[in-house]
Amino acid sequence: MNNTLLKPQQITFDITDRCQMQCVTCAKWSTVPSDVINKELTTEEWKKVLSDLRNWLGEGFWFCFSGGEPFLRQDIFELADYAHSLGIKVASMTNGFSIQHLYEKIVDSPIESLNFSLNAINNPLIHDESRGRNGSYEKIIDAINEIKSLKDEKKSSIGLNIATIMLPENLEEIIPLVEFVTLNKLNGIMFQLLDDKESFQAYCVRSSSKTSKYVMPKELRIKYKNMSKRAIEIIDKLIEMKQAGHSIYNSYEQLNAMKVFFNNPDDILRDIKCDVGSTNFAIDPYGDVRLCFNMDPVGNIKSELPEMIWENAQSQNCRLLTKSCKMYCRMLNCNFKQNFTNFNKSFLEKCFNKAVKILSGRH
Ligand SMILES: C[S@@+](CC[C@H](N)C(=O)[O-])C[C@H]1O[C@@H](n2cnc3c(N)ncnc32)[C@H](O)[C@@H]1O
Ligand code: SF4
Ligand code: SF4
Repeated sequence: MNNTLLKPQQITFDITDRCQMQCVTCAKWSTVPSDVINKELTTEEWKKVLSDLRNWLGEGFWFCFSGGEPFLRQDIFELADYAHSLGIKVASMTNGFSIQHLYEKIVDSPIESLNFSLNAINNPLIHDESRGRNGSYEKIIDAINEIKSLKDEKKSSIGLNIATIMLPENLEEIIPLVEFVTLNKLNGIMFQLLDDKESFQAYCVRSSSKTSKYVMPKELRIKYKNMSKRAIEIIDKLIEMKQAGHSIYNSYEQLNAMKVFFNNPDDILRDIKCDVGSTNFAIDPYGDVRLCFNMDPVGNIKSELPEMIWENAQSQNCRLLTKSCKMYCRMLNCNFKQNFTNFNKSFLEKCFNKAVKILSGRH
């Protein structure tokens, strides 16, 4: 065993593959079988996972409910209550489509951070088209406004955040989204680079992992290239806005790395190492655990304790694979921390210097 191995810092419970949306960026909804609900971990099984994690990690760690759409699980509040009773901090993602009857419950629950996936603010059509369902903009905006009002009324401390994918179609929405967050006194906004749709398949149908030699699909590379000039300008503006005090969660280092990436993805991918093997612990709806969401599971939480999985041979092997991985998904948020603790200083300096060179036309 590696003695310097730290405990995981990003714990995700993908509690269901099910989803009512039809996002063009995500394949979960089109790949999940209708009878999958019977195969998901039960409430009691998730509670055992929470107790086992608490025994291993102690109090005060965070985990995030995701999926699929986590609020399709009827027991999400029971699980949140149980986690809270153990001293565990709860966050959740949501597409905001079917939570209208849950506003009050959400604000009264121990969920401390709720992330709304919103891809546009001025042009509802851009959000609806990215989500594949008419009316999804209207519903998520209603959810944000109503939950914010209830939060203020009840003096709740729940953090309300926006999560936005940077798409070719929504580049002109990025700055208005930051302004919306500031104007409405939400807690912050996090931008995510667009990943390959195939990486977002339902876990239950994933047959085999992509290998560590997997490279960027041509279609995605063209997309990045076509949006690169404007994306770099917008990221520059984001850096300015962050410096001016707007609550943008992506670190300066990630924003600078994104600029290098848009200019030439290969440049930055040569320099950045993927750290998910030593930071991530993602549990899928059936109990399979992955360190990297694109690779094979390293164990199943129903039959093994989390600390055993973390240290087993499959996990060690996965960490070796991540070190030689050629994939571009290391640019995603799971490989960047808000406090940048996973990057060493020389990388940060290199990354920053490269961005400065690009900006000044010296590359
Ligand atoms: C898979 S969803 C699960 C939670 C929930 N259904 C939602 O949409 O918020 C988690 C996040 O992934 C984002 N996402 C979906 N497809 C993506 C892609 N191809 N690249 C990057 N992020 C993506 C979504 O917008 C969402 O913020
Ligand atoms: S991104 Fe979220 S809302 Fe969209 S289909 Fe995937 S799981 Fe559902
Ligand atoms: S870059 Fe990281 S997250 Fe992406 S496949 Fe490789 S190891 Fe996994």
